[in-house]
Amino acid sequence: MKKIEIVTTFIEYDSMAELAAQDKALMERAIQVRKEAYAPYSKFRVGAALLLEDGTIVVGSNQENAAFPSGLCAERTAIFYAGAVHPGKKILKIAITASSDMKLTNSPIPPCGACRQSILEYETKQEQPIEMYFMGAEGKVCYSPSLVNILPFHFEKDSI
Ligand code: THU
Repeated sequence: MKKIEIVTTFIEYDSMAELAAQDKALMERAIQVRKEAYAPYSKFRVGAALLLEDGTIVVGSNQENAAFPSGLCAERTAIFYAGAVHPGKKILKIAITASSDMKLTNSPIPPCGACRQSILEYETKQEQPIEMYFMGAEGKVCYSPSLVNILPFHFEKDSI
């Protein structure tokens, strides 16, 4: 018997202003697309922007449905689009922002488990980490250098 400990480390920025210009611009795209999210049921809007290796930016927002489980999160909307339209291009970074029409969300909101799992698939496939920045509507920004960092002890292709 042995005890296994997993330590993950995140970096927290006080605001977007502290980010490098390219990362700030990526988050700005996520904020832009967040505002157009289709979220009539939850009133919770999420925007995601991916930076691909050739400089292409792919965005996505959450798309809800009257049959609730048929909706899709912003991160998966974006990453599946990248996988479909830009196959073979590496994904370098993802910026995520979430806001609620009902309350102020000014602390970093991490992506749900299903989105972490989905993004991890692409990190594993491309054999290169995907850096992640996530925030609420405003305020602090959290940085994770890879998906493994935010989803340690995960299920992946070698598990099958
Ligand atoms: N949502 C996302 O878009 N990303 C996440 O990581 C968590 C949740 C969406 C799904 C749903 O439209 C709304 O936020 C409330 O859960």
